[in-house]
Amino acid sequence: MKTLYYKINTYGCQMNVHESEKIAGMLEARGYHATEDDTLADVIVFNTCAIRDGAETKILGNIGATKKLKKAKPDLIIAVCGCMTQQKSRADEIRAKYPQVSIVLGTHNLADFGKYLDTYISDRHRSTYLEDTERPINEDVPMYRTSGHNAWVNIMYGCNNFCTYCIVPYVRGRERSRNFDDIVHEVETLVADGYPSITLLGQNVNSYGNDLHDARFTFPKLLARLDQIPGDYVLKFMTSHPKDLSSELIDIIASSKHISHTIHLPVQSGNNRILALMNRRYTIEKYKGIVNEIRSKIPDSHLTCDIIVGFPTETEEEFMDTYNLVRDIRYDGVFAFMYSPRRGTPASTMEQVPSEVKHDRINRLLKLSKSIIKENSTNFLDHDYHALCDKIVDDTAIFLLDCGKTVNVKLDGSENIRCGKMYDIHVDSLKNNILWGRKINL
Ligand code: 5AD
Ligand code: SF4
Repeated sequence: MKTLYYKINTYGCQMNVHESEKIAGMLEARGYHATEDDTLADVIVFNTCAIRDGAETKILGNIGATKKLKKAKPDLIIAVCGCMTQQKSRADEIRAKYPQVSIVLGTHNLADFGKYLDTYISDRHRSTYLEDTERPINEDVPMYRTSGHNAWVNIMYGCNNFCTYCIVPYVRGRERSRNFDDIVHEVETLVADGYPSITLLGQNVNSYGNDLHDARFTFPKLLARLDQIPGDYVLKFMTSHPKDLSSELIDIIASSKHISHTIHLPVQSGNNRILALMNRRYTIEKYKGIVNEIRSKIPDSHLTCDIIVGFPTETEEEFMDTYNLVRDIRYDGVFAFMYSPRRGTPASTMEQVPSEVKHDRINRLLKLSKSIIKENSTNFLDHDYHALCDKIVDDTAIFLLDCGKTVNVKLDGSENIRCGKMYDIHVDSLKNNILWGRKINL
């Protein structure tokens, strides 16, 4: 029998990376095998993102490029799913402009992708599946994990926050939390399977459980419970909304055995007027208070953040508040974006900042954060870490700290180091901005 192949093109966030693992699970269950070669694929899936205009433009270009492939192989099945297609206007556009696309489906229909594929194979009718409201969580979707040493675990779906720039609440629906015991069971299985890194996913993990209406099922309680699972692994989570990050959570991280001390805490802007316009529901004073509490209770913590520059009406002085905040907080990672108007969101109708101003601001901000990250490297010197051996290239093992920094260790052949395992290392030196260390026995 002919071997059938699939290729999944994933765009956007970790949530999508993990959802592609579910799409892969449904394809593998039907006997398909993964390939990176477009010309070999019998099914090509585009798992799309709608967070910024740049993502959508790139995806449409890549879908357009499949026209030739379909011509050369008329049986090729092309499916487009994810946040972009959940917007009806985009789903209609893809159907109309790209006749080579066989199946279009939205985020709420993802669990049925396999069935839609079966239907298309039997009737060859182009179809769009687009429900406009969320369904109950389906725990029966098979999963084919592809993210190496890290396993993703959804703890919740959707978002209720409606930040005024953001499309996510419109394309992902309201917050739905997974059952507490289902999550515990999944993480226990992953630890037993030997995953050294497990990342809990949600648009706003701190509001986990709000819809479960039971004081036993909150995010801090979930973390505390998961931390009790014995094993050698690091538990990470993303993303935290500063408005909901509690002292209880900080205390649990501080006293935990497995929870990462790297906290991704998107600030978005350093200016209170802009934060209010964004509907973020915290002030910069409150944000700085959380940062101080994290740093005093978890002295070896690392902080990363997301920032939007050029939000509608942002003045130079207001941008400088963000710039100065980054300079003062000295983040270990800054993910900065130029504001991109999203159709249907409140900010898209506000007075826009010119594109060249946005470019100038993001360049200045990235230059600053790059130089801080470089300077921060010296903070790692002479410290011990329990770190993951991520790769071995020739005689050098590359270790990944849970803050994302890498440390190189030269191997002399006697260490018996294996990829995917955790080891204790000591950081000795910094050469050409690369940290070097050695394995130690604690
Ligand atoms: N324009 C630019 N950046 C955005 N983000 C979300 N929506 C937009 C937008 N319309 C950024 C935010 C968020 C990250 C995932 O993407 O910083 O935290
Ligand atoms: Fe978007 Fe705000 Fe929800 Fe994050 S919290 S997904 S930025 S609406």
